[in-house]
Amino acid sequence: MSSDAASAARSLAPAVVADIERALAVLPVEALEREYWEQDEFLFIPDAVPRETVARLLEDVERLEPGLNRNYVPRHKKGGSVSHFAIADGGPALLAFYRSEAFRRFLGRLVRADLTLCPDDDPHACALYFYTAAADHMGYHYDTSYYKGARYTVLVGLVQDSASRLLCRLHTRQPGRAPRDLAVATTPGSMVIFNGDKVYHGVSPSQAGDRRVVLTLEYVTSQEIGRATKLFSDLKDAFAYFGVRAVWQGRRRARRRTDIASRHTSDATS
Ligand SMILES: [Fe+2]
Repeated sequence: MSSDAASAARSLAPAVVADIERALAVLPVEALEREYWEQDEFLFIPDAVPRETVARLLEDVERLEPGLNRNYVPRHKKGGSVSHFAIADGGPALLAFYRSEAFRRFLGRLVRADLTLCPDDDPHACALYFYTAAADHMGYHYDTSYYKGARYTVLVGLVQDSASRLLCRLHTRQPGRAPRDLAVATTPGSMVIFNGDKVYHGVSPSQAGDRRVVLTLEYVTSQEIGRATKLFSDLKDAFAYFGVRAVWQGRRRARRRTDIASRHTSDATS
């Protein structure tokens, strides 16, 4: 991004945060919280994000889309992804949304947990998914938490000119409840919130000429992750999502984080 474009884009980020705070203030939080729990930790809010905010987020999308990573895992997934690292470099409005404290508080209230951002080296923390070629899709899966705690997924619809739908199966791990299937059109400004370990979900195939773009935000109750689990998660990210380069970027960021932490520890003990 040129430095002029970068500063123009950065100057929009506070407006995005203010817009989101205003939008959250008028949502019926108590009713939404009830619905989230009645649906075994799943919620769909059709008009959560104002149209002007979606337009600002789409400016970042336009800038980042040329650098997306296309991925294909036979019989499981096909589509494009932009990682948290690319968003941190060139998507200030998207990043500001992810980091909004007001949004995190709102979410924490719904899911009844203290939430933190994912660590900087997690490429999924805040990412874009593109279903823009024929037969782009995603097989059914859980967003399993590799952290030592729960992981929550937020999907924000940005573009839905597509036959492709978010398919969700609720109550799959709730004894005594029959599963319930939903096909959700993630229209611009809509929001889906769920506990990654509870909602079995996928994305139905797009057709030629379709365009569906979704922003995903991940929040956790603990930033701690086991070493073996981290390795498995890195390999999955390299091959199924963001490419090997993004995973190396993540590892560099994690090393930097460890160096800074150990510097702080030695400062504190010396
Ligand atoms: Fe998922």
